[in-house]
Amino acid sequence: MLNETVWSFCIPATIKFGEGAVEEIGYEVRKLNGSKALIVTDAGIVEAGICNKVETILRDSGVEVDAWTKVEPEPSIDVFAGCCQYARQKGFDSVIGLGGGSSIDVAKVASMLTKYGGDILDYIAPPTGKGKKYPAPGITMIAIPTTSGTGSEVSPAAVISLPEQKLKVGISDNFQRPDVAIVDPLLTLGLPPNVTAASGMDALAHAIEAYTTRRYDQKIKPATPAERAIYNGTNNLTDICAMESIGLVSRYLRRAVNNGYDIEARRGMSLASLLAGIAFTNAGLTAVHAMTFPVGGEFHTAHGITVALLLPYVMQFNAKGDASRFADIARIMGEAIQGLSLKEAARKAVFAVSELALDIGIPLSLKGFGCKESDAPHLAEGAMKIQRLLVGNPRRIDLKDLEDIFLKAIKGEI
Ligand SMILES: [Fe+2]
Repeated sequence: MLNETVWSFCIPATIKFGEGAVEEIGYEVRKLNGSKALIVTDAGIVEAGICNKVETILRDSGVEVDAWTKVEPEPSIDVFAGCCQYARQKGFDSVIGLGGGSSIDVAKVASMLTKYGGDILDYIAPPTGKGKKYPAPGITMIAIPTTSGTGSEVSPAAVISLPEQKLKVGISDNFQRPDVAIVDPLLTLGLPPNVTAASGMDALAHAIEAYTTRRYDQKIKPATPAERAIYNGTNNLTDICAMESIGLVSRYLRRAVNNGYDIEARRGMSLASLLAGIAFTNAGLTAVHAMTFPVGGEFHTAHGITVALLLPYVMQFNAKGDASRFADIARIMGEAIQGLSLKEAARKAVFAVSELALDIGIPLSLKGFGCKESDAPHLAEGAMKIQRLLVGNPRRIDLKDLEDIFLKAIKGEI
């Protein structure tokens, strides 16, 4: 009989939130004794003038600064390696990930390898890599997101694409969690509707999965202290963050998609994403995110879209295991559930999520991405490999279940 009652809750040492927060980046670098910083970003952020702005603030604070601007969406291991090599050669003491989840992920790994060297593959989990652990934190790492969704600014993980193997792998290590997260909603003003929609649904999935994942005492074995620092099941604090995040997405995502300059909606979505990131990186994720890996690897669908598409189907499956938490989600999303049974209320949560996705232009079928019904079996096999996430699914799930869910998502039968 397992008796796991201890939980831990890990977040960056400093979280700075609000309009204009980015103006304090120089202060934050100096506070951590930084004097030579590398900004890791992509061409779009340079074009938007955001990189230049951050460079100027840093220089005005007396910090020497350089930028590596070659991050690509869904970055490959070569992109990671290129950045790490550059950062090591020039002797930086701080790395700043500026942009979407990709730039922040690349910056995280650069902060570690600048200090410890070695090959990225050493740190990727087996069978792909050697599963080596970092001995201690890397050089100072600061994350500044310019989208609202990935939660990468508070997460200990980096997702790496291996194009030749059509595979996405990750390095998850609590030492990789940024030291500082600066979340400035002004940086998200004017993001195009499709990016806002996809990243916003990613945040919603993080919150819903974090709220419904298994507590550790229901998992296979008690956690070690190191395991407890990531994905250790729901706890009182992750529940509070997840519930608040679900409410914020319900209130503000449609508005942010409809008008990219609605600052109140942008602020709400920035906060929702931050809270969802805090919740899921402590509590864990479920089958939804496990199932995105084979789909993204094969059909190159954007992460947020894939997540949004699969979310209601997995919720429908999971609610049959225990409807109570899904009934809570329906209530938080503003559905009228008074007088309904738990089962009926849970169905309202599935409806609320599907309706939100459709309202912001996300389809509910994988067909449009070139995915056929005959793909369901091998997609299910691919998802089955992501056991580190499946172990957190609240309802027991096997290969046949995954195949059934994929089939429904391909046909669009919600
Ligand atoms: Fe995600």
